[in-house]
Amino acid sequence: MNKKVITTCLAACSLIAGLSLIPVSGIMAQDNGRPELTLNGGSKGPIPFKHQLHQTIVKDCAVCHKDFGKKPGTLDEAKKIGALRPQQVMTKTCIACHKAKKRIGEKSGPTSCSGCHS
Ligand code: HEC
Ligand code: HEC
Ligand code: HEC
Repeated sequence: MNKKVITTCLAACSLIAGLSLIPVSGIMAQDNGRPELTLNGGSKGPIPFKHQLHQTIVKDCAVCHKDFGKKPGTLDEAKKIGALRPQQVMTKTCIACHKAKKRIGEKSGPTSCSGCHS
């Protein structure tokens, strides 16, 4: 192979390699949402929620997001249209995990009303 062919080949290869990186970086640029947010707790009062802390602990987004979307207000929206019952996420997701972790002696979150609702 002469020098020109090699140079062309290298240029083509790096172009292909560069292109194949684009979809990968697209996946990496995941929107994690707000690090801290306040959830609507109805008559019991709002719930300050450390979203980022939970992302670190829980890892799998679907543990919570199987029930509602990744947009602000989707939890309330799902309750409004009847896709989720009131207190369903609270009981089946939040408190269920906190209780399970407590049971096995791991670091856990609140299980009493005032621990979450302020
Ligand atoms: C322990 C539960 C939980 C886990 C785990 C979780 N989220 Fe969320 N996330 C929430 C709640 C609650 C909301 C607020 C929804 C609402 O406002 O109705 C939310 C909202 C969001 C939003 C909307 C923007 C915002 O700031 O409200 C995005 C984006 C999001 N989450 C991304 C993620 C990603 C990505 C992961 C995984 C790395 C993840 N979440 C893991 C509970 C969780
Ligand atoms: C681990 C946190 C946590 C604890 C502990 C907790 N809650 Fe909640 N609560 C939530 C979250 C999150 C919501 C909003 C999502 C939902 O309705 O499932 C909520 C919603 C509610 C609502 C409003 C439901 C609606 O849509 O009208 C009431 C009422 C409520 N909780 C009462 C209680 C009572 C009573 C206790 C104590 C026995 C309690 N909560 C303990 C997190 C918690
Ligand atoms: C799969 C497990 C899991 C789920 C689901 C989960 N939590 Fe937690 N939560 C934890 C653990 C573990 C901690 C203790 C973290 C620490 O102290 O480092 C915690 C801590 C907390 C704290 C105390 C944080 C602080 O330091 O102020 C609150 C409040 C809380 N969780 C609310 C919620 C709410 C509301 C939901 C549902 C939307 C939820 N959690 C869902 C595991 C979970």
